[in-house]
This record gives sequence, C-alpha cells and structure tokens, in this order.
Amino acid sequence: MHSATASTHSAGTGWSSGVLVVAAALASGLVIAGPALRRHYPVVWWVCIGFPAACIRIVRTWRPLMAGCGLAISRRAALTVVSGLVGNGAPPPQPRVPRRGLVLPTRDGFRLLIRMLPGQVPEDFVKAAPAMAHDWEVHAVRVSTWRPGVVRVLASATDPLKEPRVPRQRTPGRLLRVTVGVLETGAQWVIDLRQVPHWLIVGATRSGKSTLINALVAGLSPQRVALVGIDCKGGMELSLYEPRLSALATNRGQAVKLLRALVDLTLDRMTVCREARVRNVWGLPEKQRPVPVVVIVDELAELFLVASRGEKDEAQAAATALIRLAQLGAALGVFLVVAGQRVGSDLGPGVTALRAQLGGRICHRVADPGTAEMALGDLNPDALHAAQSITPEQAGTAVLASADGWDRARSHLVPETEAEAIAAECAHLTPHVPELAEAIGAPTGPSLHIERLDSDE
Ligand SMILES: Nc1ncnc2c1ncn2[C@@H]1O[C@H](COP(=O)(O)OP(=O)(O)OP(=O)(O)O)[C@@H](O)[C@H]1O
Ligand SMILES: [Mg+2]
Repeated sequence: MHSATASTHSAGTGWSSGVLVVAAALASGLVIAGPALRRHYPVVWWVCIGFPAACIRIVRTWRPLMAGCGLAISRRAALTVVSGLVGNGAPPPQPRVPRRGLVLPTRDGFRLLIRMLPGQVPEDFVKAAPAMAHDWEVHAVRVSTWRPGVVRVLASATDPLKEPRVPRQRTPGRLLRVTVGVLETGAQWVIDLRQVPHWLIVGATRSGKSTLINALVAGLSPQRVALVGIDCKGGMELSLYEPRLSALATNRGQAVKLLRALVDLTLDRMTVCREARVRNVWGLPEKQRPVPVVVIVDELAELFLVASRGEKDEAQAAATALIRLAQLGAALGVFLVVAGQRVGSDLGPGVTALRAQLGGRICHRVADPGTAEMALGDLNPDALHAAQSITPEQAGTAVLASADGWDRARSHLVPETEAEAIAAECAHLTPHVPELAEAIGAPTGPSLHIERLDSDE
C-alpha cells in the first residue's frame, strides 16, 4: 500500500516535472523566436506573448497606478481605527481603487471596462491615460464613457498608423464621399461632405496637408462635382489638377473675384430653392439640382495676411466672402476645404469667425501649439495632446475632431504625379460653370453646361 502510494507520488512528480520542462521549453522558444514572430506574424505574437505580458503588467500596476493618478479613495478614518483595534496591529486597509473588468485582447491591443468610484468622472480617467500607456508599455490608451458609471479603456500596443494596412478605394464611391485614409481603429477614414460640409486642415510644412488634398481630389475627380481651387502660393499646389478644376485663382485679387462669384452663385441657388419651396438643393427635383461645388483653399494665410492698406481691404473681402460661403453653402451645395500651415487670430478678425463655420477639423503635426488649439481646442481639448505628439516622421498622420469626438488617422499616400494623372484622366468630367470661369477672366469653355447631377443617392 505504502509502496503503491510512493510509486503514484513519484509518477505524479515525474509527470508534473515533464509538464514544467515542456512549458519552459515552449516559453524559451517563444522568447527566442519572439522578435521574428513579431515581425512576420504580429497578431500571433500579440496573442501568445504581448497580450499575456500586458495582462501581468496591468494586474501588477493596477493599485499603484490608480493611487498615483489620484483615482484611489482612502477608507474612512473610523474604519481604519476599527481595523487597527480588531486586526491587532495589522496594517490599515488599503485605499479603495476602481474595479477593473476582464481584460480582453483586440487585434493589436486590449480593452477593459472600469467601474468608477463615487465622485469620479470619466475625465479623471482620460487624464490618467498617458500614465496607463507608460505603465502598461503600450503605444496609446484611449478612455471613453461606456455607460453611466463605467469607462472603457482601449489600448493599442503599437501605432497602427505606422504602416496602415487598409487598401485604397479605387472606385468613385458615393457622391461627395471619399475614403482618404485609415483611422487608428483600422476603419476607413472617410470624408463625407454631405455629412460635414466644411473642413479646416492645418499642419506645419511637410506635415501632409497637400497629400490629403491629393487624396480628396483623386476621390472627387471621377464624381460629378465642380472643383474650384484657390491657391495664393501662385498656384504651385493646386495647378496640378487644373484640367479637372472648374476655376483656379492663383493670387489674392483673383481669389476675391472668385469668392464673390461663388457667393453670387450661392445666392442664385437660394432663389431657386425658395421658388421651389425646398430647404436645400437636395430637395430640388433631380433635373433642376445644380452641380455641387467643392472649393479648395490651399494656404489660408496667403489669403489673409496683409502688408499694406490696399491688401487689407482685399483680405477683408476674401474673409467676408469665405464666411458667407461657409454660412450659406452647405444647404446650397457649396463646400469648403481650407488648408493652412498656421491658423491664428493674428491673421485677422475673420479667422475665428471662419473657424466656427468649419465643422470638420484635421490637425497634422503643427509647429505651434496655438494652431493645434485653434483647430481642435474649441471642440475637443483632449485631442490637443494627441496632435502635439505627432512627430515629423509620421507625415500624413492627423487628429480629426468634430463635435462627436476625435480620432487619429493617416491619409493614403497619393503622390502629386498620381493626383495629376487622375485629374487629367477625369478632365472630361469637369463641369463648366461660366459664372466662375468668367470671374477670374479665364476663357469661356465649351458650351457644355452641366447643371444637374447623376443621382447615386
Ligand atoms: N499619408 C502619408 N503617408 C506617408 N508619407 C506622407 C503622407 N503624407 C505626406 N507624406 C510625406 O510628407 C511629404 C510632405 O507632404 P505634403 O506635401 O503633403 O506636406 P504639406 O503639409 O502640404 O507641406 P507644405 O505646407 O510645405 O505644402 C510628402 O512628400 C510625403 O513624402
Ligand atoms: Mg502643401
């Protein structure tokens, strides 16, 4: 009996040591092969090595992290005294920390829910996000409200925008809707002008503004849309798409005339809508519906900065016309995409008023915090930090903000040559809008006058 127990015991020990050896061999194999696995099969690496390691770090750091970020709540003094008496010199009870839900893996990170303690608000956890990212050794942590009393933490282990894997869209797509890049979540970054009609794009030099405009123009070119360019850098940027532009202004004088013509065109459309008793151009019968006009302004500062008295009047006229277009345009099929390196109130009083009308905001890497604040601050203060941490190596990366929230994204790399080729290919689709062409003294084009859209709603 005794010997049988001994042999069972030794078999058990042998079996468990065998398991230990296999586990040790597997673990060391994974550690040795880790870097190669991570390079070639990032998802497998994450599931087998990265995620378990992150879980260990979360469990280990939870209490000190919550305490360090001021998210732990001390027990009541009375409870501490009672526990001291009852516990006979045992250490007093630890402060209460928010309760953590199950940590679940995602493709390149993890998510978890946290139940807040009484008196806490989601903003307290949003402030703690950078500390979480450092303690858990992940690229970034985003905190959002999940439901009352609970916040959701979404962590990404590496920057998904470093090498975005979402392919570019090759088909024209829905009217006024273009996939211009990829979001941090892995979803497509879509600019839909019918949802958000006016956009402000800011970024320092070589931060990716023109590349984004290239992607937008490449997407809009095959659609029945009139593209209008205002490029007061002498047309260096937008003249590439000239064959597909219904009008292009290359200096401030032309820009003012063009913007005034656009305001007149918008007012004409307003009369048409009023007579048809509809609230916007989309309510008009298809045959009467005018072609949508997308106005692209590259380098806002060139339009607004003034050196002399004469220029001041011109700049003011441009600002007024832009603000009017932004105010009236959305319902009347006129959309604005305004790009600039630096956008600040020093450009003139019109800038703040214009910004208020440009609901879609895209902030690339910026040279001064003021511009990021101008682009994002009034909508989403917590997006500012994300925008300020974009490095020069991450050209094309941007923070997008709207009243609903913010996202990090990266535009598809559409080089000038490609955008130029697409514009030339689609030149035959350029609607001729005589009012605009005449405003800047361009020769009147062929008699083709597209005044209606091909419906693809
Ligand atoms: N989405 C992207 N992915 C990869 N590289 C990019 C991306 N966007 C821009 N780049 C790189 O950054 C360079 C500069 O971009 P871009 O010309 O768009 O900057 P910009 O903001 O228009 O600068 P400027 O204000 O001087 O006109 C590009 O030539 C390209 O090499
Ligand atoms: Mg540019």
